[in-house]
Amino acid sequence: MQKRKWYGILILIVCSCNPAAKKDYSWQPPDTGQIPATDKGRLIRYGRDLIVNTSSYLGPKGIRAAISNGMNCQNCHLEAGTKPWGNNYSGVFSTYPKYRDRSGSVEDIHRRVNDCIERSLNGQPLDTNSLEMKAITAYVLWLGKDVPKGVKPRAVGIRDLPWLSRAADPEKGRIVYQWFCRRCHGEQGNGLFNADSSGYKYPPLWGEKSYNTGAGLYRLSRLAGYIKDNMPQGYTHENPLLNDEEAWDVAAFISSRPRPEKPFPKDWPDITRKPLDHPFGPYSDSFPARQHKLGPFEPIRHAH
Ligand code: HEC
Ligand code: HEC
Repeated sequence: MQKRKWYGILILIVCSCNPAAKKDYSWQPPDTGQIPATDKGRLIRYGRDLIVNTSSYLGPKGIRAAISNGMNCQNCHLEAGTKPWGNNYSGVFSTYPKYRDRSGSVEDIHRRVNDCIERSLNGQPLDTNSLEMKAITAYVLWLGKDVPKGVKPRAVGIRDLPWLSRAADPEKGRIVYQWFCRRCHGEQGNGLFNADSSGYKYPPLWGEKSYNTGAGLYRLSRLAGYIKDNMPQGYTHENPLLNDEEAWDVAAFISSRPRPEKPFPKDWPDITRKPLDHPFGPYSDSFPARQHKLGPFEPIRHAH
């Protein structure tokens, strides 16, 4: 008995000294007014501008380079990458460089930014030494600068919704889309591009101007989690409009529409590490590709 008690206290001490064990780190974005008036500060501000107005700089008519599809990083990383559960950047400083199963290698932040440019912006990578890459990474790292190394803040990135017990249903999702999404994202899912090419008033959800099949949002769990906590525009994790089923179904509808197909043959070199909802084989199990795309995911999870 006595021995057990000491054990407990020891574990408690070890856990409270190890920041990685602190699961509920609550992050507040630093105040942009505190960005210093130095060269470094100017770089951070330019980085923020690139996240918000990516298309003006790097879109089809970009003033710095025409290397991406016209979307802004902020279309998916809401409020300049600061919104809780809105795919925010709070965990980048504290967790990069990190090993990622998708590439089977340790990725630094430049590589991670270019991942999104090549996939989510269906574009060409930035040179690591370019001013734009330096600025984007300076801003993203600045946002998370106060987070202790190794800690993943609460409300970082996109939430994992509970798996549905059935397959997500694109036809049910079509109805959700007509009611709650179409008025902004359009009947054809192509959104509304600002006349001055500064980006989208409403970004595209499918079609040739949207993210490609290698993007994170093409995985159903990522899309459903993003939608549940953030869409329609203005809804939040605390105040969502859709229930979980509606979020999964509308995600299934969107993911069943056409979009740019870009193969990344080097992804997931160890197929046993593929997420359950990765829509492309080969797989280490015998479930069909359609089930990996739309579910039901529980049977796959149990088989692993
Ligand atoms: C179409 C949506 C979309 C767009 C546009 C987009 N991203 Fe992402 N980004 C994602 C998704 C999805 C993830 C992975 C989130 C997850 O799985 O939790 C991600 C992750 C990241 C991460 C890693 C975050 C972390 O905590 O590991 C960085 C850095 C990043 N994006 C940078 C950018 C930059 C810079 C741009 C613009 C050049 C951009 N992204 C545009 C969807 C997008
Ligand atoms: C009132 C207008 C509005 C409605 C309604 C709306 N959205 Fe959006 N949506 C936006 C805007 C604006 C953005 C980009 C946010 C930004 O840049 O700050 C966005 C971004 C997105 C994105 C990420 C970017 C992309 O293009 O892939 C997805 C996915 C999305 N919405 C899905 C939906 C779904 C699903 C619904 C219905 C449940 C919905 N939206 C309803 C305005 C809306």
